[in-house]
Amino acid sequence: MIVMKKLVVGNWKLHGSRAFNAELIQGLLAADLAATAPRADVAVCPPFVFLSDVAAALQGSAIAVGTQDLSVQAQGAFTGEVSGPMVREFGAKYAIVGHSERRSYHAESDQLVADKAKAALSHGLIPIVCVGETLAEREAGQTEAVVGRQLKAVIDTLGEQLSQIVVAYEPVWAIGTGKTASPEQAQAVHAFLRAQLRSAQAQAAGVPLLYGGSVKPDNAAELFAQADIDGGLIGGAALKAADFAAIARAA
Ligand code: 13P
Repeated sequence: MIVMKKLVVGNWKLHGSRAFNAELIQGLLAADLAATAPRADVAVCPPFVFLSDVAAALQGSAIAVGTQDLSVQAQGAFTGEVSGPMVREFGAKYAIVGHSERRSYHAESDQLVADKAKAALSHGLIPIVCVGETLAEREAGQTEAVVGRQLKAVIDTLGEQLSQIVVAYEPVWAIGTGKTASPEQAQAVHAFLRAQLRSAQAQAAGVPLLYGGSVKPDNAAELFAQADIDGGLIGGAALKAADFAAIARAA
């Protein structure tokens, strides 16, 4: 078993306003997450437009910032896109890529997600690559085939850089539904992903594997106690300072 520092990341999705964010950040800073720093790294991923504000407010704190997506392009005629060099300028450390909401609402393919992970790395960002099956896929016994296919595109695209990523397992049926995967269900998929990473490249066995999908203060500790769960990607509960801080402390 690999024991590593946990990572807890808040994905704010399409939520917030300058006033809401200021209050949320005030709550997070008051929670003094520096005390958890030796055991867990913590980050939040606001919508792009708030990145500058949020990074400034968190400067010098134990909380890093990231983005929820990233263009594969660095610059050019790509209307509406935001690139790695741009978000780096505003202090981003992480970039979530391949969230199921992007895969489904924006038709992002496995290869596009892999290319986004590569773009993130090439601009000094740590990609948090999301994989996960739908309920229909799980019920059809295809969970490993689906997450395996999604991860394989990343493995094939990144080559030597594979060990520099973070992977988040987010079963689509558990996102925003209040239905968390049981610790055993999540651990089984994490063990599968760990084995796939290890067999692709020995060093990639150390890639942090986050679980996401209805993580709350009352189920976080049990999930994080699993051998191959190295932290969490938190949606709804990341919008409440007390809940997010409690989850970070559970890590
Ligand atoms: P919830 O925690 O709201 O289920 O969202 C999980 C998620 O999608 C994080 O990226």
